[in-house]
Amino acid sequence: MERTKNYISQRMLPEEAEILFQQGSRFEEVLMMYGCAVREVSTKLEVLNDELSVRYNRNPIEFIKTRIKKPLSIVNKMKKRGLEISIDSMMENLNDVAGVRVICCFIDDIYDVARWLASQDDIRLLQVKDYIKNPKPNGYRSLHLIVEIPVFFSKGKQLMRVEVQIRTIAMDFWASLDHQLRYKKDVPDSEKIMEELKECADVIAETDSRMQKIREKIGVFTELT
Ligand code: GTP
Ligand code: MG
Repeated sequence: MERTKNYISQRMLPEEAEILFQQGSRFEEVLMMYGCAVREVSTKLEVLNDELSVRYNRNPIEFIKTRIKKPLSIVNKMKKRGLEISIDSMMENLNDVAGVRVICCFIDDIYDVARWLASQDDIRLLQVKDYIKNPKPNGYRSLHLIVEIPVFFSKGKQLMRVEVQIRTIAMDFWASLDHQLRYKKDVPDSEKIMEELKECADVIAETDSRMQKIREKIGVFTELT
């Protein structure tokens, strides 16, 4: 029960967010379902990492972070996209209510993890956005997947969508700082700062690809795909 309560703990909710709560406990139940979906995906990734660790002494995943979108962010996103504010509309239209972020060691690990996850026969891959091969103009890099996973509840099976972001430690370092800087308003000479951030992203990408090459030179793991 404690766990379920945490899904909706939010100090201040705007009036619009109240709409989501008007359907009794259904909103709480749906957020609980997203929480379960996130745990299913995390467990799958942990299983892969454990198996590779024991079999080959390889740990492609450094760590995993999960989050359920806050009610306020859910409402803001639906408003921005001109969608009806309702639980059904949220489940139909938002792909990122449930989020899993997978931090890998090397660039190749990202694609291996994505392939292993997507090839599991209870997972349906709905969308791939490869911001590593095609970085965003600001320098952001990551591989984004939207997957659909069945979660089994007492009333039966429910298909749930989860956003999976896979990136290296270096890409995560950049994205975390970029995210913090985004919250800062009225940055002086912001164009110059954007340029500097982009340069940092490119340096980081270059380092990632050098680390990948070092791994290939050492010859570890490369035969295991
Ligand atoms: P959102 O409405 O933000 O969810 O974007 P989208 O639906 O177009 O999806 P996209 O795959 O482009 O981005 C989804 C998520 O990736 C975001 O919510 C962020 O977590 C992350 N992301 C995307 N672009 C950036 C960026 O420039 N910087 C950082 N730090 N994170 C980003
Ligand atoms: Mg998002």
